[in-house]
Amino acid sequence: MSQPVPTGADAVHEVVVTVNGTVRTARVPARRLLSDVLRHDLRLTGTHVGCEHGVCGACTVLLDGEPVRSCLTFAVMVDGAEITTVEGLAGEGPEPGNGDSVELSPVQRAFRECHGLQCGFCTPGFLLLTTDLLARAPDPSDDEIAEALGGNLCRCTGYVNIVRSVRRAAELLAEAERGGAPA
Ligand code: FES
Ligand code: FES
Repeated sequence: MSQPVPTGADAVHEVVVTVNGTVRTARVPARRLLSDVLRHDLRLTGTHVGCEHGVCGACTVLLDGEPVRSCLTFAVMVDGAEITTVEGLAGEGPEPGNGDSVELSPVQRAFRECHGLQCGFCTPGFLLLTTDLLARAPDPSDDEIAEALGGNLCRCTGYVNIVRSVRRAAELLAEAERGGAPA
């Protein structure tokens, strides 16, 4: 006897997305969250899940260049989209001068330099928000930084060093733009 074809919530859908430049496919039920697909199906565990209901921002990724909360996004909604996770920020080569195995992005370097993290749980979300902000506003005002980061929560830093990191990232990107250190 043939198996019944799943319908409704049990039906499985194929989702094809480009994640950090690579085309990936997942077969998921309609209710599966993008955060779960990234972490469990695609094994990209850099996207963190904190509150699971849209409050903390730890799960932020860029969806077609815009920050979204992956815990509030169904995977089937992003079929055909481009997604950037924290794993997509670093370059391929080694970090110049310090022996790290990956070349950090200017935003990542700035967070490290300015101690913009402690436990690091919230950090992927802040890195992606900052990457988006500086793509739109290379020299952001204090108000623009507060507006961009204000929806994400950090339990550790008091935010002072996170804001400092954003300003330093803007400097590093501007230096790279002027032909200084590679971004
Ligand atoms: S885990 Fe998504 S907003 Fe908190
Ligand atoms: S660095 Fe620990 S929650 Fe932000």
